[in-house]
Amino acid sequence: MEREGRGISERPRKGLRTRIFDAGDARALAQRRLPRLVFDFIEGAAGRETAAQRNCRRFDDILMQPKVMLDVGERSLKTELFGHSYDLPFGVAPMGMCALSCPRADRFLGVTARQRNIPVCLSSAGSSTIEEMFGWGDRNTWFQLYVSQSIEQSMALVERARVTGYDTLILTVDVPQVSRRTRDLRNGFVMPFVMGPRQFVDLALHPRWSLETLARGIPRPKNFDAPNGVTFDRHASRAGANWSFLDHLRQVWKGTLIVKGITSPSDAMRVRAAGADAVYVSNHGGRQLDSVPASVDLLPPIRAAVGPSFPLLFDSGVRSGEDVLKALALGADFVMMGRPFLHALGAEGREGLEAMIDAVIEDLSTGMAQLGLTKISEISEQCLWRGNRPNQAIAEENTPHLKARSA
Ligand SMILES: Cc1cc2nc3c(=O)[nH]c(=O)nc-3n(C[C@H](O)[C@H](O)[C@H](O)COP(=O)(O)O)c2cc1C
Repeated sequence: MEREGRGISERPRKGLRTRIFDAGDARALAQRRLPRLVFDFIEGAAGRETAAQRNCRRFDDILMQPKVMLDVGERSLKTELFGHSYDLPFGVAPMGMCALSCPRADRFLGVTARQRNIPVCLSSAGSSTIEEMFGWGDRNTWFQLYVSQSIEQSMALVERARVTGYDTLILTVDVPQVSRRTRDLRNGFVMPFVMGPRQFVDLALHPRWSLETLARGIPRPKNFDAPNGVTFDRHASRAGANWSFLDHLRQVWKGTLIVKGITSPSDAMRVRAAGADAVYVSNHGGRQLDSVPASVDLLPPIRAAVGPSFPLLFDSGVRSGEDVLKALALGADFVMMGRPFLHALGAEGREGLEAMIDAVIEDLSTGMAQLGLTKISEISEQCLWRGNRPNQAIAEENTPHLKARSA
């Protein structure tokens, strides 16, 4: 067995100079170092942002049961997904315009994902091209599709991804319309970027970011630099990702197809019936509907609906290795994280990203030791504290699938 458990803590930390030891550090440093309009673009969510807060708060409500006196000195975090063996059970969620966090963010994400052997997903609205990102991340790179243009233009992106070598496609379906994000409205954050007096002052107060960003060119959604002049309109409806489009996409895309933004058991079953390879449970980090339930509360009922072996990916609100552990215990097969990686990049660039990943790994690995576990496949609902009211309620509603998974 790999020595990932002990090995991690014994390995000299690459990021000795880092000030990032958890997601809170990354967020606080990013808030200081990024212009307000950039920090708020990353941090922002729909409405009063209660969904974004609930996503994290509900993780805190879920408690786990330690198990003692077991031989847990050697632990492995390797995880199988879609026939690939990843070194960790978590990866980087698709996020548009990552280069706003730091100029070479996409390169850092791609190279780090390849070296760490985890997936990273380039957004349709990414700040690098499909081809550039694959050059950095190679087969660890996935592509995420928004259907905001015509079907033909969307399928042209899919074809570019296929020709480039991508084997995994995520179709995001929870953005029929981009929600109202009040932070962006207050800050006058629009794309393409418009500089008024307010934005000028904001950038002037953050000279390091501003000079670096100006030197490398203001980030833009590069996949839409088409000779035909098609540009990415952030506010255009993306409702083209409907059920009949999914049927069409399934016929055309022969690789792994994941549908992201699923929050109900009935939609999850319909996605499975349409022939997708996985459901991605997500409320978009609370960026779409302020009144949506916490993403982690949606996992058990969706797991119950799709059955014990259908692949489920998960994101929204994950901030630590213990959160990863909880999501896996509640039915996810793989976990993605969003904001913490952009915060870390904004705070310390590549070093920050590495430090953030190390922090999650160490927290996850030591958490597993506390629970008496040595492999990711041993994580089950048995890890949850039975006296935990919310967990108990969730478990009672969904006992059949949970039993089946842990059998
Ligand atoms: C700045 C930012 C940009 C995002 N852009 C996209 C996107 O282009 N496509 C997409 O499917 N999801 C996008 N998301 C949502 C993430 O994929 C993910 O669902 C969310 O960040 C998870 O929540 P977390 O940030 O709490 O981890 C974005 C999120 C953020 C923070």
